[in-house]
Amino acid sequence: MQGASAISHRDYSTLSPRPTSVYSDPVPVHIVTHPLVHDALVTLRDKHTTPEHFRRAATRISVLLATVALSDLPARDVTVETPLGPAPGRRIGADVVVVPVLRAGLGMLDAVLELVPGARVGHIGLQRDEMTAVASQYYSKLPSRLDASHVLMIDPMLATGGSAVAALDLLHGAGARVIRMICIVAAPEGVALVERHHPGVDIYTPVVDRQLDAQKYIVPGLGDFGDRLYGTI
Ligand code: PRP
Ligand code: URA
Repeated sequence: MQGASAISHRDYSTLSPRPTSVYSDPVPVHIVTHPLVHDALVTLRDKHTTPEHFRRAATRISVLLATVALSDLPARDVTVETPLGPAPGRRIGADVVVVPVLRAGLGMLDAVLELVPGARVGHIGLQRDEMTAVASQYYSKLPSRLDASHVLMIDPMLATGGSAVAALDLLHGAGARVIRMICIVAAPEGVALVERHHPGVDIYTPVVDRQLDAQKYIVPGLGDFGDRLYGTI
Protein backbone atom coordinates (compact mmCIF):
# COMPACT_ATOMS: atom_id res chain seq x y z
CA MET A 1 0.00 0.00 0.00
CA GLN A 2 1.34 3.42 -0.91
CA GLY A 3 1.05 6.61 1.15
CA ALA A 4 2.90 5.02 4.02
CA SER A 5 3.70 8.35 5.65
CA ALA A 6 0.01 9.15 5.83
CA ILE A 7 -1.26 5.87 7.15
CA SER A 8 -0.42 3.47 9.85
CA HIS A 9 -1.88 0.08 9.13
CA ARG A 10 -3.48 -1.62 12.13
CA ASP A 11 -1.86 0.71 14.64
CA TYR A 12 -4.15 2.58 16.98
CA SER A 13 -1.58 3.24 19.63
CA THR A 14 -0.91 6.93 19.10
CA LEU A 15 -4.42 8.08 18.29
CA SER A 16 -6.78 6.48 20.69
CA PRO A 17 -6.67 4.27 23.73
CA ARG A 18 -6.26 0.80 22.32
CA PRO A 19 -9.60 -0.95 22.55
CA THR A 20 -9.32 -4.38 24.09
CA SER A 21 -11.53 -7.43 23.68
CA VAL A 22 -14.01 -6.25 20.99
CA TYR A 23 -11.99 -7.29 17.99
CA SER A 24 -9.23 -9.70 17.24
CA ASP A 25 -5.90 -8.67 15.79
CA PRO A 26 -5.13 -7.98 13.01
CA VAL A 27 -8.05 -6.02 11.63
CA PRO A 28 -8.31 -4.45 8.18
CA VAL A 29 -8.10 -0.88 9.40
CA HIS A 30 -5.79 1.77 8.04
CA ILE A 31 -5.37 4.66 10.44
CA VAL A 32 -4.70 7.82 8.43
CA THR A 33 -2.29 9.95 10.42
CA HIS A 34 -1.79 12.89 8.04
CA PRO A 35 -1.75 16.16 10.06
CA LEU A 36 -4.16 17.87 7.68
CA VAL A 37 -6.66 15.05 8.25
CA HIS A 38 -6.43 15.54 11.99
CA ASP A 39 -6.70 19.31 11.70
CA ALA A 40 -9.98 18.90 9.83
CA LEU A 41 -11.13 16.27 12.31
CA VAL A 42 -10.74 18.72 15.21
CA THR A 43 -12.96 21.20 13.36
CA LEU A 44 -15.58 18.49 12.84
CA ARG A 45 -15.46 17.43 16.48
CA ASP A 46 -15.75 20.99 17.84
CA LYS A 47 -19.35 21.53 18.99
CA HIS A 48 -19.07 25.22 18.07
CA THR A 49 -18.43 24.52 14.37
CA THR A 50 -21.29 25.83 12.24
CA PRO A 51 -22.84 23.72 9.44
CA GLU A 52 -21.02 25.91 6.91
CA HIS A 53 -17.60 25.21 8.39
CA PHE A 54 -18.57 21.62 9.16
CA ARG A 55 -19.30 21.01 5.47
CA ARG A 56 -16.00 22.54 4.43
CA ALA A 57 -14.05 20.43 6.90
CA ALA A 58 -15.95 17.34 5.76
CA THR A 59 -14.90 18.05 2.18
CA ARG A 60 -11.29 18.67 3.19
CA ILE A 61 -10.94 15.50 5.20
CA SER A 62 -12.73 13.43 2.56
CA VAL A 63 -10.30 14.51 -0.16
CA LEU A 64 -7.40 13.42 1.99
CA LEU A 65 -8.95 10.12 3.10
CA ALA A 66 -9.97 9.20 -0.42
CA THR A 67 -6.51 10.05 -1.72
CA VAL A 68 -4.99 7.57 0.70
CA ALA A 69 -7.65 4.90 0.19
CA LEU A 70 -7.20 5.06 -3.59
CA SER A 71 -3.41 5.33 -3.58
CA ASP A 72 -2.87 1.95 -5.19
CA LEU A 73 -5.52 2.19 -7.90
CA PRO A 74 -4.37 0.49 -11.10
CA ALA A 75 -2.98 2.90 -13.69
CA ARG A 76 -2.08 2.53 -17.35
CA ASP A 77 0.74 4.20 -19.22
CA VAL A 78 -0.24 6.87 -21.72
CA THR A 79 1.45 9.51 -23.84
CA VAL A 80 0.08 13.01 -24.05
CA GLU A 81 1.10 15.81 -26.40
CA THR A 82 2.19 18.95 -24.59
CA PRO A 83 2.73 22.13 -26.66
CA LEU A 84 6.40 21.09 -26.74
CA GLY A 85 6.06 17.43 -27.59
CA PRO A 86 5.06 14.03 -26.23
CA ALA A 87 5.14 13.36 -22.49
CA PRO A 88 4.64 10.02 -20.77
CA GLY A 89 1.99 9.81 -18.09
CA ARG A 90 -0.42 7.52 -16.27
CA ARG A 91 -4.19 7.44 -16.32
CA ILE A 92 -6.45 5.62 -13.89
CA GLY A 93 -6.90 2.14 -15.29
CA ALA A 94 -9.90 1.05 -13.25
CA ASP A 95 -13.61 1.64 -13.13
CA VAL A 96 -14.26 3.41 -9.82
CA VAL A 97 -17.67 3.34 -8.17
CA VAL A 98 -18.32 5.61 -5.19
CA VAL A 99 -21.17 4.67 -2.89
CA PRO A 100 -22.28 7.20 -0.28
CA VAL A 101 -24.47 5.87 2.50
CA LEU A 102 -27.29 8.39 2.77
CA ARG A 103 -27.65 10.80 4.20
CA ALA A 104 -24.36 11.67 5.93
CA GLY A 105 -22.22 10.03 3.25
CA LEU A 106 -23.37 12.71 0.80
CA GLY A 107 -21.17 15.14 2.72
CA MET A 108 -18.13 13.26 1.39
CA LEU A 109 -19.27 12.66 -2.18
CA ASP A 110 -18.27 15.91 -3.93
CA ALA A 111 -14.78 15.60 -2.50
CA VAL A 112 -14.33 12.12 -3.93
CA LEU A 113 -15.76 13.13 -7.30
CA GLU A 114 -13.26 16.00 -7.47
CA LEU A 115 -10.54 13.36 -7.27
CA VAL A 116 -12.17 10.82 -9.57
CA PRO A 117 -14.43 12.82 -11.88
CA GLY A 118 -15.17 9.78 -14.01
CA ALA A 119 -16.40 7.65 -11.13
CA ARG A 120 -19.85 6.13 -11.27
CA VAL A 121 -22.02 6.67 -8.19
CA GLY A 122 -24.31 4.31 -6.35
CA HIS A 123 -26.57 5.34 -3.47
CA ILE A 124 -27.64 3.36 -0.43
CA GLY A 125 -30.17 4.91 1.95
CA LEU A 126 -30.02 3.67 5.53
CA GLN A 127 -31.53 5.18 8.65
CA ARG A 128 -30.79 4.19 12.23
CA ASP A 129 -33.80 3.88 14.46
CA GLU A 130 -33.44 6.52 17.20
CA MET A 131 -34.41 4.08 19.95
CA THR A 132 -32.75 0.85 18.87
CA ALA A 133 -29.93 2.18 16.63
CA VAL A 134 -30.80 -0.59 14.19
CA ALA A 135 -30.41 0.54 10.57
CA SER A 136 -33.12 -0.03 8.00
CA GLN A 137 -32.81 0.45 4.27
CA TYR A 138 -35.05 2.93 2.45
CA TYR A 139 -33.21 3.29 -0.86
CA SER A 140 -30.71 1.58 -3.10
CA LYS A 141 -29.56 2.33 -6.63
CA LEU A 142 -26.29 0.79 -7.73
CA PRO A 143 -24.43 0.90 -11.05
CA SER A 144 -24.08 -2.27 -13.09
CA ARG A 145 -20.95 -4.44 -13.46
CA LEU A 146 -19.78 -3.93 -9.90
CA ASP A 147 -17.77 -7.15 -10.10
CA ALA A 148 -15.22 -5.39 -12.32
CA SER A 149 -15.12 -2.15 -10.33
CA HIS A 150 -13.17 -0.68 -7.45
CA VAL A 151 -15.87 0.30 -5.01
CA LEU A 152 -15.33 3.04 -2.45
CA MET A 153 -18.06 3.15 0.16
CA ILE A 154 -18.24 6.44 2.03
CA ASP A 155 -19.96 6.89 5.37
CA PRO A 156 -18.48 9.25 7.94
CA MET A 157 -19.54 7.36 11.06
CA LEU A 158 -18.88 3.70 11.86
CA ALA A 159 -20.62 3.25 15.21
CA THR A 160 -22.28 -0.12 15.88
CA GLY A 161 -21.37 -1.14 12.34
CA GLY A 162 -24.96 -2.10 11.56
CA SER A 163 -25.26 0.41 8.71
CA ALA A 164 -21.88 -0.49 7.24
CA VAL A 165 -22.61 -4.22 7.31
CA ALA A 166 -26.05 -3.70 5.73
CA ALA A 167 -24.50 -1.55 2.97
CA LEU A 168 -21.67 -4.02 2.41
CA ASP A 169 -24.17 -6.90 2.27
CA LEU A 170 -25.95 -5.03 -0.53
CA LEU A 171 -22.73 -4.31 -2.40
CA HIS A 172 -21.50 -7.88 -2.15
CA GLY A 173 -24.96 -9.12 -3.13
CA ALA A 174 -24.78 -6.91 -6.22
CA GLY A 175 -21.48 -8.53 -7.20
CA ALA A 176 -18.88 -6.10 -5.83
CA ARG A 177 -15.59 -7.80 -5.03
CA VAL A 178 -13.08 -5.02 -4.37
CA ILE A 179 -14.53 -2.74 -1.73
CA ARG A 180 -12.93 -0.14 0.49
CA MET A 181 -14.63 2.01 3.02
CA ILE A 182 -13.68 5.43 4.30
CA CYS A 183 -15.09 6.89 7.46
CA ILE A 184 -14.21 9.88 9.59
CA VAL A 185 -14.73 8.45 13.06
CA ALA A 186 -14.96 4.75 13.89
CA ALA A 187 -15.80 2.90 17.09
CA PRO A 188 -14.27 -0.43 18.13
CA GLU A 189 -17.67 -2.12 17.92
CA GLY A 190 -18.17 -1.02 14.31
CA VAL A 191 -14.72 -2.14 13.26
CA ALA A 192 -15.34 -5.50 14.91
CA LEU A 193 -18.68 -6.02 13.17
CA VAL A 194 -17.28 -5.18 9.74
CA GLU A 195 -14.31 -7.44 10.40
CA ARG A 196 -16.62 -10.32 11.34
CA HIS A 197 -19.02 -9.98 8.40
CA HIS A 198 -16.77 -8.55 5.68
CA PRO A 199 -13.15 -9.35 6.53
CA GLY A 200 -11.99 -8.49 3.01
CA VAL A 201 -13.07 -4.86 3.24
CA ASP A 202 -10.34 -2.41 4.19
CA ILE A 203 -11.41 0.53 6.34
CA TYR A 204 -9.65 3.90 6.16
CA THR A 205 -10.22 6.19 9.11
CA PRO A 206 -8.29 8.83 11.02
CA VAL A 207 -9.34 7.45 14.38
CA VAL A 208 -10.98 4.63 16.33
CA ASP A 209 -12.63 6.36 19.27
CA ARG A 210 -13.09 5.00 22.77
CA GLN A 211 -16.60 3.56 22.86
CA LEU A 212 -20.31 3.94 22.18
CA ASP A 213 -22.66 5.55 24.67
CA ALA A 214 -26.06 4.16 25.73
CA GLN A 215 -27.68 5.66 22.59
CA LYS A 216 -24.96 4.08 20.42
CA TYR A 217 -23.29 7.38 19.62
CA ILE A 218 -19.53 7.40 19.33
CA VAL A 219 -17.72 8.90 22.34
CA PRO A 220 -16.11 11.37 22.10
CA GLY A 221 -17.09 11.28 18.42
CA LEU A 222 -18.55 14.43 16.92
CA GLY A 223 -22.27 14.00 17.50
CA ASP A 224 -24.77 13.28 14.74
CA PHE A 225 -22.88 13.86 11.51
CA GLY A 226 -25.94 14.21 9.27
CA ASP A 227 -27.60 16.69 11.60
CA ARG A 228 -24.46 18.79 11.91
CA LEU A 229 -23.85 18.67 8.15
CA TYR A 230 -27.34 19.80 7.25
CA GLY A 231 -28.22 21.88 10.32
CA THR A 232 -31.14 19.66 11.30
CA ILE A 233 -30.32 19.66 15.02
C1 PRP B 1 -25.35 7.57 10.69
C2 PRP B 1 -24.07 7.42 9.90
C3 PRP B 1 -24.00 5.95 9.61
C4 PRP B 1 -24.67 5.36 10.82
C5 PRP B 1 -23.63 4.75 11.70
O1 PRP B 1 -26.43 7.62 9.83
O2 PRP B 1 -24.02 8.22 8.76
O3 PRP B 1 -24.68 5.58 8.43
O4 PRP B 1 -25.34 6.41 11.50
O5 PRP B 1 -24.20 4.10 12.77
P1 PRP B 1 -24.12 2.53 12.94
O6 PRP B 1 -22.70 2.13 12.69
O7 PRP B 1 -24.52 2.31 14.38
O8 PRP B 1 -25.06 1.88 12.01
P2 PRP B 1 -27.96 7.82 10.36
O9 PRP B 1 -28.64 6.50 10.44
O10 PRP B 1 -27.94 8.65 11.59
O11 PRP B 1 -28.67 8.55 9.17
P3 PRP B 1 -28.36 9.94 8.46
O12 PRP B 1 -27.08 9.74 7.69
O13 PRP B 1 -29.55 10.07 7.57
O14 PRP B 1 -28.27 11.02 9.47
N1 URA C 1 -24.20 8.34 13.69
C1 URA C 1 -23.68 9.56 13.91
O1 URA C 1 -23.92 10.50 13.12
N2 URA C 1 -22.90 9.74 14.99
C2 URA C 1 -22.61 8.75 15.85
O2 URA C 1 -21.87 8.99 16.83
C3 URA C 1 -23.16 7.49 15.62
C4 URA C 1 -23.94 7.30 14.52
